[in-house]
Amino acid sequence: MSNALDGVQYFESILDTVGETPLVRLTRTARGCPAPVLAKVEFFNPGGSVKDRIALTMTDHAERTGQLKPGGTIVECTSGNTGVGLAMVAAVRGYHAVFCMPDKVSSEKVDQLKAFGAEVVICPTAVAPDSPESYYSVARRIASERPGSYLPDQYNNPVNIQAHYESTGPEIWEQTRGKVTHYVAGMGTGGTISGVARYLKEKNPKVQVIGADPVGSILRHYKETGQIGESHTYKIEGVGEDFIPRATDFSVIDRVISCSDRDGLNLTRRLAREEAIFVGGSSGMAAWVALQVAKDLTPDDLVVVLMPDTGQRYLTKVHSDAWMRDNHLLDPAVARVADVVGAKTRQLPALLSVRVGEPLRRALALVEQHDVTQLPVFRGDEVVGTIYDSELLKCVLQDSAALDRPVETVMSEPLPMVRSDLPVESVTRLLASRNPAVLVCDDGRVLGILTRFDMLQFIAAGE
Ligand SMILES: Cc1ncc(COP(=O)(O)O)c(C=O)c1O
Repeated sequence: MSNALDGVQYFESILDTVGETPLVRLTRTARGCPAPVLAKVEFFNPGGSVKDRIALTMTDHAERTGQLKPGGTIVECTSGNTGVGLAMVAAVRGYHAVFCMPDKVSSEKVDQLKAFGAEVVICPTAVAPDSPESYYSVARRIASERPGSYLPDQYNNPVNIQAHYESTGPEIWEQTRGKVTHYVAGMGTGGTISGVARYLKEKNPKVQVIGADPVGSILRHYKETGQIGESHTYKIEGVGEDFIPRATDFSVIDRVISCSDRDGLNLTRRLAREEAIFVGGSSGMAAWVALQVAKDLTPDDLVVVLMPDTGQRYLTKVHSDAWMRDNHLLDPAVARVADVVGAKTRQLPALLSVRVGEPLRRALALVEQHDVTQLPVFRGDEVVGTIYDSELLKCVLQDSAALDRPVETVMSEPLPMVRSDLPVESVTRLLASRNPAVLVCDDGRVLGILTRFDMLQFIAAGE
């Protein structure tokens, strides 16, 4: 008997769509690197991150070994990508899921886990990890109290490495037809880099594996010296540690390169703007390290860099201009004119201007009231000139009757126009020559004015 589904292409569940993520070449951001750089883009996984892979493999393993039985409960302390992966597996397979997380976590993250039917327990952040109130302790307590509970513990679970040895590593090998020469990835638990590295080195021991580590994490220092050094805070999420996770196998990592918040996060933004690859900060960090590596290679080399997750979870962080500015992270070299306009701290009406035919008295009133140095002069929608305060004052002081003359009698050339999506650099050059200000426009419509003072403030705020 024929079945309605015969020959139909479909997946039995969303979990069957985990893995087989594409490699995408970085064309614009890697321009100038002799070796091609391919990104393994993990946001194609259904939960939006590389962690779907371990969520599935750790659960499979727990089922096989009897640690997780039908109707059981998965308990984990995570606010991040692993939580989303586990919540999805729990929803499809009918497990309960409980996530213990610190109270600093955003409400969007809590709501996303709840959307999959998970239970969320919020614990205080400001307590020591061994306090009974910490989210680690609460997770352990819940697991011990609820019969049939399973704690995957991604930091210490060897199946974390195994997941990548069995899926991510072979995918990269097959997709590159064994031509990959360098593999770059960030390290959190270390599971991704260690599993992929083990597989690739088994296939070809010459493959070089490079870890990307945020400045402030202890992992690079540990790789180089075997010592645990000082850690300090940083903004890139999901990577770097202040302890050595057991899921990291340093023996298959050839070297570790550090990346600053500023370099990693600004490249994250460029990936969206220049490649339309919308990812989180740890992807930008890994890409920055991959570019450092690829710069010194040849066209016969092939660099693969893993991009762990989607930018969707960081809309209010790395992808927010305001957040980048507040944290002094915007790089003037990659900022756009629109970023400088948005950063102006002086509260002025959108654009102060005068019209041809209006008296100088009006221009003088605006200059005095708002303490501005120049005013564009419009005829209709067109900018036809500029009134400078110095010229205006000179003219009025010489002849007070001039106040009733039309503005065009002391008008100078119009200020240069720049588009808001141009790099800031192009404006810096204009301002450094003889122009005290430029007009910012989009589609011929003037949006605002940028002065030397605005630009200096912007640069100083980024330092
Ligand atoms: C956003 C993000 N990037 C990178 C990683 C690092 O992956 P791994 O834990 O396998 O080292 C993580 C891990 O938590 C992550 O959440």
